[in-house]
Amino acid sequence: MSVDPTSAEIAEKTAEKTVGETVEPQGAKAFEPPAAEPAPPRLFEEVLLAVDNVSLGFGGVKALTDVSFDIRKGEIRAIIGPNGAGKTSMLNCINGFYHPTEGKITFRGETRRKMRPFEAAAGGIARTFQNVALFKGMSTLDNIMAGRSLKMKANLFWQILRFGPAMREEVEHRRVVEDIIDFLQIQAIRKTPVGKLPYGLQKRVELGRALAMEPDLLLLDEPMAGMNLEEKEDMSRFILDVNNHFGTTIALIEHDMGVVMDLSDRVVVLEYGRKIADGTPHEVKRDQKVIDAYLGVPH
Ligand SMILES: Nc1ncnc2c1ncn2[C@@H]1O[C@H](COP(=O)(O)OP(=O)(O)OP(=O)(O)O)[C@@H](O)[C@H]1O
Ligand SMILES: [Mg+2]
Repeated sequence: MSVDPTSAEIAEKTAEKTVGETVEPQGAKAFEPPAAEPAPPRLFEEVLLAVDNVSLGFGGVKALTDVSFDIRKGEIRAIIGPNGAGKTSMLNCINGFYHPTEGKITFRGETRRKMRPFEAAAGGIARTFQNVALFKGMSTLDNIMAGRSLKMKANLFWQILRFGPAMREEVEHRRVVEDIIDFLQIQAIRKTPVGKLPYGLQKRVELGRALAMEPDLLLLDEPMAGMNLEEKEDMSRFILDVNNHFGTTIALIEHDMGVVMDLSDRVVVLEYGRKIADGTPHEVKRDQKVIDAYLGVPH
């Protein structure tokens, strides 16, 4: 006996964003012309983070000039632009590595001019880095465990003794970390020192460490840089799964336009530290300013 999916099941499946996988109602394929327009955008109302008129200068260099945009709760927001456009500087402002020279950032309704990275992390902002930043001599497991350190409540005395409340806490943290290891399918390398892993797997471990913080906002700075096609597809799936299953809001810097188009709900485009476009992937890829920026039209 064959069981056909109900229309509600089909609607639910098609609503989830997936890479390289489309779920078609049975029998519909033969009758429908190829879609000219992309799927309707997912709608997000609640602003999780707002960047207002942010500028950032380093001596004579203006890394960012008067940039404003927002990130809505639940979306995947891409930040794109040519080399040196200010993308990493923007993430550094959002997580408190840099303090904007002008402007303000509001996260979950709280506005600030200055915040330190550990305050951002404790507040629910986690990130990965353009150049992998892991403890190379430590195992995958211990690197991801390090991401839990902010969540540890038992005082240092108990932690050193690994006894009493610290012992109970550690068991719970290890359970969360093991779940992340299963989720990212890196069981086989859990004991391997990360310095011995290929670059693509190191990037995955770094994602695991960020996930261990159970963030509300995950900042990914070129998570697929230096990866081959297969590794990129894997990473794309993990990013979508994190967003779909945990509801984590994601800000993603990425140069691969195919990945950006596949993954993101909205895209903000920077060039020479200024915002030049903001909209759905479909909108920005047709924007003449964006095309000029990527084709290198002289200014
Ligand atoms: N710590 C710093 N000191 C001085 N200048 C800096 C610093 N960080 C960034 N810049 C400058 O700010 C500008 C923006 O750099 P940023 O790293 O944010 O660009 P990006 O868009 O991330 O580029 P890429 O795609 O190459 O990673 C560049 O001109 C860069 O040289
Ligand atoms: Mg960068």
